[in-house]
Amino acid sequence: MKNILVTGGAGFIGSTFVRRAIARHPDYKIVVLDKLTYAGNLDNLLPVKDAPQYAFERGDIADRATVRRVLETHEIDAIVNFAAESHVDRSVLDPHAFINTNSVGVYTLLDTARELGVQRFHQVSTDEVYGSIDEGHFREGDPLEPNSPYSASKASGDLMARAYYVTYGMHTTVTRGSNTFGPYQYPEKVIPFFVTEALDDRPLPLYGDGMQVRDWLYVDDHSDAIDTVLHKGAPGEIFNVGGESERHNIDVTRFLLQTLGKPESLIRYVEDRPGHDRRYALTNDKIRAELGWEPAHSFEDAMTETVRWYQQNDWWWRKIKTGEYLEYYKRQYAARLAETEK
Ligand code: NAD
Ligand code: DAU
Repeated sequence: MKNILVTGGAGFIGSTFVRRAIARHPDYKIVVLDKLTYAGNLDNLLPVKDAPQYAFERGDIADRATVRRVLETHEIDAIVNFAAESHVDRSVLDPHAFINTNSVGVYTLLDTARELGVQRFHQVSTDEVYGSIDEGHFREGDPLEPNSPYSASKASGDLMARAYYVTYGMHTTVTRGSNTFGPYQYPEKVIPFFVTEALDDRPLPLYGDGMQVRDWLYVDDHSDAIDTVLHKGAPGEIFNVGGESERHNIDVTRFLLQTLGKPESLIRYVEDRPGHDRRYALTNDKIRAELGWEPAHSFEDAMTETVRWYQQNDWWWRKIKTGEYLEYYKRQYAARLAETEK
């Protein structure tokens, strides 16, 4: 592998992967293909913009002509696909773009890669494809029972990668990562949303009873797991990537507030997300045993570092929290928060 195409590389996890890959693999050319949707942000790639082995192409993974041109121009050997519509709440409001990118887009990438003989394809999937689990931990062979339009569209891409391995013998791999946090995350996801709202002493809308459980994974660990699977994963293999840090939402919220020195009175219990999955939990047994990967960061240390990053980098998030963001905020939260004032 020499020329790697990172689709969705201007987003949160994709840009982390790009920054780390450029430092770690100086002999690789890293090409980013990104549509620059509301979530794509070239500020995330500022640290590497002048690196000689980096190139950026703007385009849609569901557009075959664009994908073919980029694969041919840069003589791509491997694709790592981060490109996605990634926010569950937005998929509840309008699933359309989720089907286009997460289903049709993955098919388009896979099929164009097959046509041009690209050696490797890695699909970045999610623990949400398994659905919710009250007790125990999901394993890679468990059935997929996605519950939101987001997770159903992600399951489609995940299974299409498998089908291209079984049917055409392509070297595809899949990782199913858990809830990821860290710097450069779009402030609609709960961690950067709550931290940036709390910094401005604004209310934190916690869905339902706040007792849902997520398994928190630091973004550098997630990125390194993907790098490991890209290099060492056998064709057709699927790997869970968990943070091994399950927490109730209310406890995470309290931890953020304590770290910021803000009062718990900012918390508002609001109307729940429709179809809200109660608990996500994965076992890392397979990736630990077969590839030797394990999370390197503790929840407390990485979360504290993350909070500090948002405190120190308000240049990054304040310009996002304007325009379309405020429209979305109003649609998602205005009525919910107004209910708590009655
Ligand atoms: P993100 O929303 O921050 O970034 C997505 C990126 O994809 C953006 O840069 C966006 O512009 C780009 N994009 C969207 N549609 C595109 C299209 N049609 N063509 C080209 N580019 C397009 O997402 P993220 O949180 O970094 O997630 C990256 C991947 O990891 C996604 O596939 C997501 O499903 C998966 N994942 C995320 C998490 C998490 O907690 N954030 C956990 C597990 C898996
Ligand atoms: O599990 C992996 C998934 O994690 C990824 O595939 C998704 O791309 C990513 O967005 C994330 O999905 P979640 O729905 O779990 O993340 P989110 O940050 O939206 O919410 C985390 C939890 O916090 C969830 O139980 C809902 C709750 N929440 C979220 C928001 C935005 C609230 O209580 N209030 C909020 O305002």
